[in-house]
Amino acid sequence: MEQVTYSSPAKIILFGEHFVVYGAKAISSAINLRSFVRATRTYRPTISIRSRNLGLSAEWTHEGLVHESPRNSSRRLAPLHEVIKAIVRDRRLGLSVEVWSDIPRGSGLGSSASVSVALAAATLGTLGADVKVSDVIDYAMIAERMIHSRPSGVDVNVVAHGGIVRYVRGGGIDRLEDVSLPSLLLVHSGLPRKTGVMVERVARFKEQKPSKFAELMVMYEGLIEEAERALVAGDSKRVGELMVENHHLLREIGVSNPTLDSMVKLALESGALGAKLTGGGGGGFVISLVNEEVRDSVMRSLAKKYRVLETSVSKDGLRREPDQSRHDRTSRALREG
Ligand code: PMV
Repeated sequence: MEQVTYSSPAKIILFGEHFVVYGAKAISSAINLRSFVRATRTYRPTISIRSRNLGLSAEWTHEGLVHESPRNSSRRLAPLHEVIKAIVRDRRLGLSVEVWSDIPRGSGLGSSASVSVALAAATLGTLGADVKVSDVIDYAMIAERMIHSRPSGVDVNVVAHGGIVRYVRGGGIDRLEDVSLPSLLLVHSGLPRKTGVMVERVARFKEQKPSKFAELMVMYEGLIEEAERALVAGDSKRVGELMVENHHLLREIGVSNPTLDSMVKLALESGALGAKLTGGGGGGFVISLVNEEVRDSVMRSLAKKYRVLETSVSKDGLRREPDQSRHDRTSRALREG
């Protein structure tokens, strides 16, 4: 296999960010924004990575860096480089990788997990290896561990499998096949943040207030059981209310802020069924669940202050994309008749 392209979706966490790090169940959904990675075998025995969106490129031999543009690209691309190095063990092989994405970065939508999953798959695919989802997840976690502190694995699992999933750290993943959701809005706070910093903040909270944290964990565990029942029963009104309760628990562990709280409040005042921060918190996105009848008016009122995107569940997780070089060759042959 000379060149292959894989894509992988973004994700939202409907219930359970941060609590999932400590073993609680989370419910997460893949959504219809995607990242793409094309891997090409090269004759030069080097690994090169180019990110279109970030405008970064770097090239390494097995001895070390040979080129980067602009400066520091190699540092920012290092997690992806580590994934490739773990897969490409033969020093004579060369690989060139190109990454592009529709997913807003650093905002809780799992952009790094999505790229890492697509990258691991494209690298395996271009070497002619079996692209097993479980292997892809293991390789993608190499990057996630470098990017975030103690990742639970929820992000890589949901983007690799697609659909709406139930995830427990170390306990595996199940797709909730019969669950459907009304419209979902993604509302951007405009505040940048880092998941790792937020995960550390929660770790400190747990250390300083162990009994308070334990109490909140018990409350969350009750909440997630009810949320799963409401999702399966199609009770969107209750799902929405439980999202708001989940947001309050996240505020108690210190990962919300006045902007995110007022976004949730505005969504509810405008008629949404529910809203909460999603992902690490501290900034990034709020998700809001809305019925069809009020969707446009909720969107309008949120859009006065924030960037709003409508989204839907992506049933597809990791996906092989049509081979561009074959596509180009076929269209050239057709043109040349
Ligand atoms: O990467 P983010 O911001 O979508 O957050 C992932 C969810 C956390 O629970 C905060 C961290 C984790 O690894 O589970």
